[in-house]
Amino acid sequence: MNILLVGSGGREHALAWKMAQSPLCKYDRFWTAPGNPGIAQHAQCVNISVDDTEAIVSFARQNAVELVVVGPEDPLANALGDEIRQAGILCFGPSAEGARIEADKAYAKNLMRAASVPTAEARIFTDLQSAKDYVLSRDNGVAVKAAGLAKGKGVIVCPEPYQAVKPLEEIMGKKIFGDAGNTVLVEEMITGPEATVMAFCDGKTIYPMEPLQDHKPIDDGDTGPNTGGMGAYSPVPIVDGAAMDRIEREILVPIVDAMRRDFGRYEGVLYAGLMFTNAGPKVIEFNCRFGDPECQPLMMRFKSDLVEVMVAVAEHKLAETTIEWDRRAAVCVVMASGGYPGTYEKGFEITGIDQADAMDGVKVFHAGTSAANGQSSGAEKLLTAGGRVLGVTALGDTIADAQKRAYQAAQKIHWQDCYYRKDIAAKAIKP
Ligand code: AMP
Ligand code: GLY
Repeated sequence: MNILLVGSGGREHALAWKMAQSPLCKYDRFWTAPGNPGIAQHAQCVNISVDDTEAIVSFARQNAVELVVVGPEDPLANALGDEIRQAGILCFGPSAEGARIEADKAYAKNLMRAASVPTAEARIFTDLQSAKDYVLSRDNGVAVKAAGLAKGKGVIVCPEPYQAVKPLEEIMGKKIFGDAGNTVLVEEMITGPEATVMAFCDGKTIYPMEPLQDHKPIDDGDTGPNTGGMGAYSPVPIVDGAAMDRIEREILVPIVDAMRRDFGRYEGVLYAGLMFTNAGPKVIEFNCRFGDPECQPLMMRFKSDLVEVMVAVAEHKLAETTIEWDRRAAVCVVMASGGYPGTYEKGFEITGIDQADAMDGVKVFHAGTSAANGQSSGAEKLLTAGGRVLGVTALGDTIADAQKRAYQAAQKIHWQDCYYRKDIAAKAIKP
């Protein structure tokens, strides 16, 4: 089958690695736009940016691509999924209307309200002064959220309401996230452990996957500024079978029904970021794609044919599929450039990946790497090229075992100013 994978991060490397294990997927018929040196081990890199919808569609047509898999949210919000389907090609990833569940938090909140999906109470503002007056009238903490896409940085949690004034001024006044901050949500602050549950959706059937937990803050003990995610693990002890049933019944089924009523089919992965409050699971956010880094440990545990499942989603035949999971636990430790999520230097040589990869049940996924020769493959030297550089992922019989092995693998890898959290998955391990 001719397949094109759109994206260039750790999530896409994990997808490419798993897709390449499918008998339907062959290197000479598998392309990635634009890819990275890790993805290049499985697919041929095509130098097209994820934002260039026209070039992606025309490449797909010219190469008789039969399935396009879209990793990141921006191209989905920009209607890449619609364009691919209009060209008569199967697409794994929702339409622009479907992507609004992530790209427009005001829309998502209203849809959740209409469908009685449990979520934090929120008020929606387009006027800075009204938003400031509102937060100053509150007694309890709030979360300020830019309604549009802000690369995962658009949420500021303020335990004291007055702390919300500055972020409101920055987002709505100074427009630090551009038009993404034209509309802002002010949510009540809720508390409890968090988890991610993703589900395959084909517009008719929902297939929830194994739960995971992300680690958003940069430093140990969940301190410091938020990042795209510094590590993840699966399974999550607090999300047992009863919790999964409740999440499916109270959250996934009603929101997918609401989307079907609103615009039609949602085809791809629906990501629910959840908080387990005293009143039960509540939605923090929906995303229209696989989580990153959640996708990395998820793919380590995924035992079925991923391409077959993606085709089933795109052809609306998900009900005919079953997915098998590795019973072992998986832990992913993200290795980042020192300074991230603030400013950092790039271009440092990375060593030790092969030694880490050689460990049994360990896989090193590339996120922000580049090849020293400028090519995406065949390079002698690998350089750092982003904030999050690698996702070192290990399987183990228990979460503690997977954690130990992920850190053993990470210790084999070096570059100047490399940084990673030392407590990924610690919350799930009893002392
Ligand atoms: P998000 O970018 O939507 O995933 O939000 C980033 C982080 O902010 C989440 O992982 C939560 O820890 C926190 N957060 C978001 N909304 C709330 C809320 N209403 N109350 C408390 N914390 C929140
Ligand atoms: N890891 C959080 C996200 O992908 O949005």
